[in-house]
Amino acid sequence: MASQMTDNKTQDTVDITFEGKSISLPIVRGTENESAADISKLRSTSGLITLDPGYGNTGACQSAITFIDGEKGILRYRGYPIEQLAEHSTFLEVAWLLIKGELPTRADLALFSREIARHTMLHEDFRDFFGSLPKDAHPMPVCAATVGALATFYQEPESDRQIQNTVIRLLAKMPTIAAYSYKHSIGQAFMYPQNDLDYSANFLQMMFATPCEEYVVDPVISKAVDLLLILHADHEQNCSTSTVRMVGSSQANLFAGISAGISALWGPLHGGANQKVIEMLEQIAREEGSAEKFLNRARDKGDTTRLMGFGHRIYKNYDPRAAVLKKTCSQVINKLGTSSRLLEIAMKLEEIALRDEYFVSRKLYPNVDFYSGVIYKALGIPTNMFTVMFAMGRLPGWIAHFLEMRNDPDFRIGRPRQVYTGSKERPYVGMDRRS
Ligand code: ACO
Repeated sequence: MASQMTDNKTQDTVDITFEGKSISLPIVRGTENESAADISKLRSTSGLITLDPGYGNTGACQSAITFIDGEKGILRYRGYPIEQLAEHSTFLEVAWLLIKGELPTRADLALFSREIARHTMLHEDFRDFFGSLPKDAHPMPVCAATVGALATFYQEPESDRQIQNTVIRLLAKMPTIAAYSYKHSIGQAFMYPQNDLDYSANFLQMMFATPCEEYVVDPVISKAVDLLLILHADHEQNCSTSTVRMVGSSQANLFAGISAGISALWGPLHGGANQKVIEMLEQIAREEGSAEKFLNRARDKGDTTRLMGFGHRIYKNYDPRAAVLKKTCSQVINKLGTSSRLLEIAMKLEEIALRDEYFVSRKLYPNVDFYSGVIYKALGIPTNMFTVMFAMGRLPGWIAHFLEMRNDPDFRIGRPRQVYTGSKERPYVGMDRRS
């Protein structure tokens, strides 16, 4: 895999001129013909750095995990189209694919599933840990803190073998942590994992069973949860994945990297958008005629309101995950025999926005979060758990990127530069002379 990532230099160059001197930058080309000018020697040869706020045009690494063509609406994990994985695979199969690079054999998958099932429990001392956190805490920071705290329970040095144990522990314990963070928020008893259930069913059981009431997992619901996890499993160098890589680049351990990734995902412009979408749809449902009012505010340059679940840094076309989810939304709601006013409002909003000059000219389409919240709601997942579900899904992607970075022979600590715009040197002013 390493050579696949590092031997892509071509004979081509791009030339730039600075202060009368011509500088040749080598061109690196990926397997899907994406081209990049390698600027890694630019500063040492010319004194120049590049400036790219939000990294919209910066390739931070070479990666063999996920391919996205945002113009065409294509997403592939390790070469496999997301639509095919969504239809035919399971979340643990996809997790293996992302982390190991190939689809597992039947025997690989059976062993992997067994290993994960054996590590689902949390140390009993975590009861005190959860107990020390406020009851009204959002489950996302609770999850981030708990994953960070795992590093205090597993302190072995991070050898190749040890890091494989960490991978299994993280995948196994994440649903338990997620469910406990919810149980903590509603003051209910934690439910132990049931290791004869599959990954998604076990999570649902820990979320919804109580010591006095069994929860029989509906296969329609657990299959839909599994699908949602697959669709969220990786998305190349997004905000949270870049955070995981950045933290790992200092050789901080994998638990620390994943905890930071969960924190980055929490923001409403990233994974937190799914909660915001539902809050927006609920507000529209409450207030007659507010869809148009909402869109007017989203279009207004002087108003910071955005149509949540719309727009994407990379997709300038329909997000393929949103396309799968839109279809699944109607199927799940039909199968469960419920109706969804929120789905109707979402589809109406989409219809208006996709014909509206503001959204069309900016190539703003529904992203994965536009429909995921509606499905979670239909499945009975509480709103404050939506982003936690996203984190559970994204975990294998974060792990795959962390490991890829660590195994890259060109791996260096992440350390961007800046263009300084503050004061020039000035002498210290004593307290009594300050106005
Ligand atoms: N509603 C209204 N206007 C929007 C929206 C939106 N949802 N998204 C972008 N725009 C507008 C911007 O105001 C800007 O307009 P301008 O050119 O007139 O100034 C233009 O479209 C480009 O937007 P940027 O902010 O430059 O796009 P960027 O790539 O930086 O941001 C982002 C992408 C953060 C996803 C943005 O589209 C957004 O805030 N969407 C809503 C939040 C959301 O759904 N986030 C989830 C993303 S998917 C994920 O993380 C899993």
